Amino acid sequence: MAILALWASFGYLIGSVSGGMIVARLMNLGNLREIGSGNIGATNVLRTGNKKAAAVTLVFDAGKGAVVVLLARAFAGEDAAQIAAFTAFLGHCFPVWLGFKGGKGVATYLGILWALAWPTGAVACLIWLVVALLTRFSSLAALVSAGAMPVLMPLLGYTNMVTLAVLLAALLYWRHWGNIQRLRAGTESKIGTKS
Ligand code: G3P
Repeated sequence: MAILALWASFGYLIGSVSGGMIVARLMNLGNLREIGSGNIGATNVLRTGNKKAAAVTLVFDAGKGAVVVLLARAFAGEDAAQIAAFTAFLGHCFPVWLGFKGGKGVATYLGILWALAWPTGAVACLIWLVVALLTRFSSLAALVSAGAMPVLMPLLGYTNMVTLAVLLAALLYWRHWGNIQRLRAGTESKIGTKS
């Protein structure tokens, strides 16, 4: 039990480190809170016009989720990996370093899935990509992808991940509440647009 709590804490602390905030600071991109949606994720970093910064943010935020899972699994097994995955996602959304005002968790979600079971990560990315290419809405792509994964996981042979996928999808939908309202109102901005 103590070991699981340790990995949960580790996942949360690493998940709390925001790639977007670090990249924005190092590359002088300005205050992400005052740009576009105000989010600290890769989609909003892209609104600064700096594609490289957005790519680095994506890799960083996905990478931290993956690293946490791989370390937890290597040292403490599958339960620890899933718990650390969940807390890493929580950390990204509610980071202790940023007064608990974090991101929406999409890149971290994808990194977590890749590390837990790569076919689930591949399918989630594929769904994201198809919806994003068809609609140009990053948020909608994330919502469809995260919503589909609890249903698809048993079909892919990962029934053991369904509970985690449901919890992550619920949190992801909560964090995208503003996006959902904008999608419904027809005011959501598309990938690559500035506002
Ligand atoms: O990765 C977050 C994305 O789904 C939505 O971002 O900045 O358009 O609210 P944003």
